[in-house]
Amino acid sequence: MKAVICTKYGPPEVLKIQDIPKPNPKNDEILIKTMASAINSGDVRVRGLKVNGFLKIVMRLMFGINKPRKPVLGTVFSGIVETIGDNVTRFKVGDSVFGMTGLKFGTYAEYIALKENDKVILKPENATFEEAAALPFGGQTAIYFLEKAGIGKKSNPEILIIGATGAVGTAAIQIAKHHNADITVVCSSRGDELVKSLGVSKIILYDKEDFTKSKSKFDIIFDAVGKTSKNQCKKLLKKGGVYKTVGGMEVAAENKRQLEILKALFEKGEYDATIDKIFPMDKVVEAHGYVDTERKKGNVVLRISE
Ligand SMILES: NC(=O)c1ccc[n+]([C@@H]2O[C@H](COP(=O)([O-])OP(=O)(O)OC[C@H]3O[C@@H](n4cnc5c(N)ncnc54)[C@H](OP(=O)(O)O)[C@@H]3O)[C@@H](O)[C@H]2O)c1
Repeated sequence: MKAVICTKYGPPEVLKIQDIPKPNPKNDEILIKTMASAINSGDVRVRGLKVNGFLKIVMRLMFGINKPRKPVLGTVFSGIVETIGDNVTRFKVGDSVFGMTGLKFGTYAEYIALKENDKVILKPENATFEEAAALPFGGQTAIYFLEKAGIGKKSNPEILIIGATGAVGTAAIQIAKHHNADITVVCSSRGDELVKSLGVSKIILYDKEDFTKSKSKFDIIFDAVGKTSKNQCKKLLKKGGVYKTVGGMEVAAENKRQLEILKALFEKGEYDATIDKIFPMDKVVEAHGYVDTERKKGNVVLRISE
């Protein structure tokens, strides 16, 4: 099967399309023909070893010293169940599914084998495969951090989302809307139209205005791009308010419940996959180059199969 191999750490050109053996599912596994994956900020971070100082050593220890020991990157997918192991009961051949492999990677490939209890569920019925692949990364991260911030504990919480136009930010807007939050966002003029299209009217454009001078106070401040510190934001927090950032040491934990939330919201028409661009698999170098700019709006999808 065809797969994108990360041959070493470096620029997008280290990615090469190669033929590798198709996985052979075990008794408790399903074999999925991958239709789409998404290229996320996490993927380009691993490919380029894009962290500072001693974290480079930590990353090399975690992911491989000279190159990723799991050479097929990609952590999210949508696809069709092609075969099932003898002990599989939750899926049948032909099911359309989506999910997240997380640190197991492997989704930039024509096939993946997963345990039926992994983070894989039936795709939203009304979603294209491209849309389904765009849901998990930002969606699961946003659900994790907003729940940790206690978004469900207060009715109509006032929330500030900093960096509202990336994969995590656009998801955070929509998860916050689901909780009836009163939402203010910080983004650039380039993202103004997008956040309006997601239903936000309180917008602070960071290229025109310093959000830290705002007179408003919030129950939750969520930095969805990791560009601020708690110190910088603390005077905008109400008493008892919570600050969360994707930029610290806290790492989002993904689970199937989050996938179910995203599926249900999508099926009710309350969630937009927010796709910026779709690239075919053979344009993966270009696609990684685009995500490297850190300017993408929402999600970038990699189409694996037609
Ligand atoms: N801790 C965790 O578990 C976890 C999980 C997932 C992601 N992350 C991290 O979260 C960050 C965001 O991820 P992502 O996938 O959403 O990234 P992304 O989609 O690549 O984010 C790009 C967006 O960020 C906006 N942006 C860039 N600089 C900004 C600034 N100073 N203020 C406001 N907006 C800004 C850009 O818009 P403009 O250019 O128009 O400003 C662009 O729309 C990444 O650093 C990622 O590594 C952490």
